Amino acid sequence: MPPRRGRARAPVVVSIGGSILLRDDHDVDYLGKLAELLRSAGRSGPVAVTTGGGRTARQYIRLGRELGLTEVELDELGIEVTRLHARLLAGRIGPPCPARPPVTVAEAVHELHRASPVILGGTEPGHTTDGVAALLAVRLRAARLVNATDVDGVYDRDPRRYPEARRIARMRWPEFRSLVAAGTSAEAGQNFLFDRLGAEMLARAGIPLAIVRGRDLPNLRAAIEGRPFDGSRIEL
Ligand code: UTP
Repeated sequence: MPPRRGRARAPVVVSIGGSILLRDDHDVDYLGKLAELLRSAGRSGPVAVTTGGGRTARQYIRLGRELGLTEVELDELGIEVTRLHARLLAGRIGPPCPARPPVTVAEAVHELHRASPVILGGTEPGHTTDGVAALLAVRLRAARLVNATDVDGVYDRDPRRYPEARRIARMRWPEFRSLVAAGTSAEAGQNFLFDRLGAEMLARAGIPLAIVRGRDLPNLRAAIEGRPFDGSRIEL
């Protein structure tokens, strides 16, 4: 067999928080540029992307909770919204990105063998799209997981309450896991730094997590490509 030139790049997984996708602030411009970034990243190597539900999901979850739906049903409402966002982005990216978001991690892995990028929302009740992204990253033996969110990294205390809070550029997994564990519960629609189970899975597999402000596209691109970026990096 002739020697293969170079090795295929290891997959990269990107988790995009719903809160940065739709915020009534130049959304069309942002979504168009984000789609272009993901299309070009997907051409240079396998890229899998999850999209969150943001405030739209939380609106439905609040309404459902007031109507007495169960936590599982509330999670399912959230999942539908995350899939709506995945469709929106996938539609803008166009072929070969599958227009219909895969509904399981196994299906997403399968799709990634023939197309990149692949965009999906949630899968089943009990976690968030960050959790789906973490599971995908482990399954794909990804080089990294990039969490594109509405904060620019991990702080030593809540930066909204403490102006003197300092961003931590590099953190080890045990420290990050305890931070996540202290700040989350199992309720539908909660909003925190990262999915608890997802953090456990990444830590166990030793996959680095990059946390960046998702609206800062040059910086998001740097994190996806594995170049230095402004934000926080969690690693072994
Ligand atoms: P998100 O992934 O958007 O969670 O899913 P989030 O923490 O609200 O993140 P942001 O604000 O978008 O960044 C929204 C909700 O949908 C349900 C959960 O209830 C979650 O809180 N969900 C999502 C699931 O139950 N399973 C999934 O796989 C994904």
